[in-house]
Order: sequence, then C-alpha cells, then structure tokens
Amino acid sequence: MSPDFAQRLNAVAETVEAALDAILGPAPLAGEIARPQRVLDAMRYGALGGGKRLRPFLTVETARALGGDAAAALRAGAAIECVHCYSLVHDDLPAMDDDDLRRGRPTAHKAFDEATAILAGDGLLTLAFDILADPATHGDAEVRVALCLGLARASGLGGMVGGQMLDIEAESSATPLDDNAIRRLQAMKTGAILRFAVEAGAIVAGADARKRQALLRYGEALGSAFQVADDILDAEATSEQLGKRAGKDAERNKGTFVSIHGLDGAKRLRDRFVDEAIAALGEAGLAGEGDILREAARFVAARAN
Ligand code: IPE
Ligand code: IPE
Ligand code: MG
Ligand code: MG
Ligand code: MG
Repeated sequence: MSPDFAQRLNAVAETVEAALDAILGPAPLAGEIARPQRVLDAMRYGALGGGKRLRPFLTVETARALGGDAAAALRAGAAIECVHCYSLVHDDLPAMDDDDLRRGRPTAHKAFDEATAILAGDGLLTLAFDILADPATHGDAEVRVALCLGLARASGLGGMVGGQMLDIEAESSATPLDDNAIRRLQAMKTGAILRFAVEAGAIVAGADARKRQALLRYGEALGSAFQVADDILDAEATSEQLGKRAGKDAERNKGTFVSIHGLDGAKRLRDRFVDEAIAALGEAGLAGEGDILREAARFVAARAN
C-alpha cells in the first residue's frame, strides 16, 4: 500500500466517522418523536470506532475521479456504511454466525443484548435511506431517488440479504456448493454493496452510461476479490490480526472458494479478479485519475485485515 493510498483511505475514514457521529446525535429530527438512549448507543457502537470504511472510500474516490461533488459522495458513502454496519451487527447474531468479536471489540449483542442489537441494525438500515433521501445529500431529487433505488437493490432480497440466506443455507447443504453457486452467493452477500459503492460515486458525478457500465464491472470484480480475500484471511490469519474470530468458515461448513479450491486455488482466483477490476478501469477511460481505484483493487486482495 503506497503512503498516498494509506493517507487517503485514512482521510476518508476520519471524515466518514465524523459525519456518522454527527448524524447519530441525540436530538430528534423533524418527523422523529424521540431517540431512545439505549438503541442510539447501540447504533453508535455498531457504526463508530472502527472498520476500514472501504465502501465510502470507493464512493468518494470514484466521484473524485469523475469530478463529482465531494460532499454528496461523502454522505452517499456514509449511508452505504450504515447498511454495511447493520449487516455486520446482524451477521454476528447467535442465529447467524454467532460471533463474539468484531473490529477488535465484543459484538453488539454481547456489548448490549440481542434485542437491542437487532433493533440497532434495523435503525442503521433505515437511517441509510434517511440520509440518501435528505436534500442535504444532493439538490437533484432524481439523483437522490437513483441512490435510494440502487442501495435498496444492492442490500435487499436480490442482494446482500439474499446472499446471506444462501450463505446460511450452504452450512447445512448435503452436497458442497459448486463454483457457480459460490460465485453467486458472494456476488450477492458482499459484492452487491461494494459494486453499488462504486456506482454511487458515478451517480453523484453524473457519469455517462459507458463509464458507468465499465465502473460496474470494476466494482463487481473488486467485490469478488474482496470476499475471496476475506475467506483466505479467515483461514490464514489470527483473530488478533483480524479483530474478528478467525477459522470460523471451515468450522461452520461455509461455502467458500477456499473450501472447494484450497488456499492456493483461492489466491489465484483472487488475483484474477484484481486483474479484471483493473482492466475494467481502463475501459472506463480513467487514466491517471483512476490510479487510486487501481490501487484499491490491489489493496482489497493484499490487506492484512
Ligand atoms: C467484513 O467487511 C464483512 C464482509 C463483507 C466480508 P469489511 O472487511 O469491510 O469490514 P470492516 O468494515 O472493515 O470492519
Ligand atoms: C458477511 O460475510 C457478509 C455480510 C453481509 C455481513 P462474513 O460472515 O464472511 O463476514 P465476517 O467474516 O463475519 O466479517
Ligand atoms: Mg456471515
Ligand atoms: Mg460472519
Ligand atoms: Mg468472513
């Protein structure tokens, strides 16, 4: 990771943290009645104080590469991060992956309780659409609607939620999932939101259809590389390094590329996805201004946590 890349990733993480901190304040907004302290605390716990903030980074840097408005991209990225954080809070619940450690701290249901964690996740999910629909995000209502629709499609039944269902079903499947089934599972549970994080930057910047299509292919390939890397890290890294419990996928019989191709096969596949992502950036016609996105594709594969 180059110092410039590390510095920009860090800068976006700090700005997103500050934006979420302000959004998750105690004062009710117009139309709200009150913000009960316990669920607000749990939402803040789930959304603040950790995480790479990779999704907002992709939104902000894609918009920047295309000359889009930085403030709008930041709010769109913060909204996507709310959905991501909700997905982690629910993913860790006893009924799902049953994990005790997340981002180096107890998971939300451990720090609070299950009911509060479920509600905090629900609250973060809803908040994402509040942020996107708010005129403070973008002056053009058509842009706001496109962002809401895109995030809904990436996050719901045909995206992350559907993918989480396939992931849970795979644990008790009599026969191991094949290559195509794993590809689809991962494209849904993780890829869809990462791909939308890139697309959101293009929407904010008003990119033309050709650029947008190529950037979608970039986001898709990056998302695939990201999840294969997550599965490799689960098998190879320590819990201390990851800030979440390692070695759970094999234990729970998760359908991953590591489970069917082994570590070396999964690494080859991961690197192929990175090459695909970088090639797609070329098709988007992004030269020097796309360098940071090229580095992002390499980063998701090479990251240590
Ligand atoms: C972890 O995502 C969950 C998956 C989608 C595989 P990240 O690795 O982006 O988690 P944080 O946000 O940095 O903690
Ligand atoms: C979770 O995938 C993807 C989500 C939608 C949250 P994992 O279950 O592999 O994520 P980790 O390894 O717990 O972070
Ligand atoms: Mg899971
Ligand atoms: Mg999990
Ligand atoms: Mg994992």
